[in-house]
Amino acid sequence: MGSSIKLFNADCINTMKDLRDSTVELIVTDPPYNLGNFMKERATNLKRMRPNSFYSAGWDNLDYQDWLLNMDKFFEHSARVMKKGGSMVVFMSLIKAESVIKMAQSHGFYYKTTGVWHKTNPMPRNMNLHFINSIEGWIYFTYQTHTGVFNNESRVMHDFVESSVTPKNEKKYGTHPTQKPEKIIQHFVELLSQSDATVLDPFMGSGTTGVVSRRLNRNFIGIELNRAYFDIALKRISDVSAEEECVLKVVHG
Ligand SMILES: C[S@@+](CC[C@H](N)C(=O)[O-])C[C@H]1O[C@@H](n2cnc3c(N)ncnc32)[C@H](O)[C@@H]1O
Repeated sequence: MGSSIKLFNADCINTMKDLRDSTVELIVTDPPYNLGNFMKERATNLKRMRPNSFYSAGWDNLDYQDWLLNMDKFFEHSARVMKKGGSMVVFMSLIKAESVIKMAQSHGFYYKTTGVWHKTNPMPRNMNLHFINSIEGWIYFTYQTHTGVFNNESRVMHDFVESSVTPKNEKKYGTHPTQKPEKIIQHFVELLSQSDATVLDPFMGSGTTGVVSRRLNRNFIGIELNRAYFDIALKRISDVSAEEECVLKVVHG
């Protein structure tokens, strides 16, 4: 039987409530970092340079306390749908790492690693005044166990992953302001899940985790609130050719 892909154009908390208990082996996700208000207070010119970068992405403009409450609900539902021994990678700004780790731990996740993604060609903003911002953090957990699937084939795995920013050929159906490169997401899906696993991304954006999961013959559940980003994700995931046939289900919430 082929793999299954379910895509929801809806709020992830409402949608996760309807997912069955203990059915997911891996979550790879990139929630809003809640840097919208932080950036506004710093009078950054980033908004002008990257239209929509922080101002249209759902939880990015929430007050910090509201963002924490929503993230807590996200971890609560992640714990419920995750199988014992499953794994989770959450991309996050490093300044938020400690609060994210505490929340995940309170729902039964076991904290493993904080790592960084280094971008080899970041935007050279004010390079004579500041360090160039070229990293994003990722935090790795297992659920109710201290180790999970780790397909390293005896290779040494560093807590540092590197790639260019997302290449243009991954944006042919439209642009998402914080789209991750397929290479980086593929690294985690291959390493942390087996080929019959179910992968969940509740903040799917343009669908990078879904593209990679389909290519690697994993089952995938993706949720995205914004209709324009959802449509990009649907086109990208439909476009992937995988070894196996797959059943694609689309739900507009
Ligand atoms: C950082 S982006 C993810 C980008 C994605 N990794 C990619 O490669 O395209 C976060 C996404 O979460 C979505 N989002 C924010 N709040 C949401 C919610 N409550 N439910 C579902 N999606 C949400 C935003 O619209 C945004 O597209």
